[in-house]
Amino acid sequence: MSRVSMLVVGVTVIFCLVSLSQTAPAPQSCEMLLKPLEMKTVDPLIGKWSGIASSSSQAGARTTVKITVENIKAVISAGTHPNMIKDTIYMKTLGGGCSSYSINMTLEDNKLSWFFIVPASAVFLPTCPDCLTIYQTIDIDGKNYKSLDLFSQRRQLTPDEMFQFKTQVECLGLPSPYSITSEKEHCPDSTEISSGMEETVRQVMTIMETDVAKVLLGITDFIIEKAEEGGKDNGKVFLESLMNWIS
Ligand SMILES: *[C@@H]1O[C@H](CO)[C@@H](O)[C@H](O)[C@H]1NC(C)=O
Repeated sequence: MSRVSMLVVGVTVIFCLVSLSQTAPAPQSCEMLLKPLEMKTVDPLIGKWSGIASSSSQAGARTTVKITVENIKAVISAGTHPNMIKDTIYMKTLGGGCSSYSINMTLEDNKLSWFFIVPASAVFLPTCPDCLTIYQTIDIDGKNYKSLDLFSQRRQLTPDEMFQFKTQVECLGLPSPYSITSEKEHCPDSTEISSGMEETVRQVMTIMETDVAKVLLGITDFIIEKAEEGGKDNGKVFLESLMNWIS
């Protein structure tokens, strides 16, 4: 075989391996990436965290986040007991408004549990340094929804770090992740707790659970996902025209 044809064969093999590894993560790498981390104390959780990306099995999660959220920040502080934390979520809306709410959470056997409208729990998966990859289960009327959320003390992660998260999402069989960050400033720590937040989330949750909404939101999730795959700007342009059309 000539040197050129060997090179062609070599490049083709590498190309095939790369595309294979992109379409289906190897089972052994999934096993490693999905092995929950030991979390003996709440100490590694304390701090300020920027929301980076998320994926959820719940129909409409992508749509509701994409039409309302500019960015998300979480501030985790010590709770009233050594195994408890207070997690305050700050949500900046697309309109520039800020809202926040706090949740008390308990860490037990490497697992975090809390109750916000419905019971929820989470384990932590392998991730980059100064990141948290949180695999959540929420229970709505006996139905389990899963989500994988990536937070970091940095505002932006490297392509390799994002690739690891995307692989974890694929390993779990969840829909492709969407961004929950932007270059805009986060809400300030001084943002007051929004008293109506819990009620708003409860109402949105109730609507999302209806069969009609599930079908419609399934469609908008799909359209938004496809628009985003076509490039970040396409996604944004599409959303703007969708919002103009709705209003
Ligand atoms: C969280 O715990 C603190 C201290 O026990 C309590 O004062 C507060 O009301 C709790 N917050 C919620 C949202 O349950």
